[in-house]
Amino acid sequence: MLAHINDKARVSPPHDHGASWAIYGQATQYTDMIEWEREDNGADPKHAKLKPVKKYRLTPGKAGIYQDGTIHSIDYPDYARFIRVTGANLDKIPRIKIDLKTGEVAQMYTGSSS
Ligand SMILES: [Fe+2]
Repeated sequence: MLAHINDKARVSPPHDHGASWAIYGQATQYTDMIEWEREDNGADPKHAKLKPVKKYRLTPGKAGIYQDGTIHSIDYPDYARFIRVTGANLDKIPRIKIDLKTGEVAQMYTGSSS
């Protein structure tokens, strides 16, 4: 379980949580969520083509669940606070993030969780 206490706004790139589920629960301010689907067939491990399939705002008291490798990106303003609960230690499982401009797929490592 990770408490995100953010003084500064941030936009994350689309990413998954590998084989783990994740729940984001909003406490203060809001988080704009986008869920993405791959338009490619996933055959190329280095590139992905994404299309947005769901966009919504998590406000205080609301939670979103992400599982089965759901790719999502988050965008929150200054002083947004939320908790993220996961079914596994994400530092220990393979995960990906995707550069929206280039479609480049990168592995995520310890310290880059979001
Ligand atoms: Fe996430």
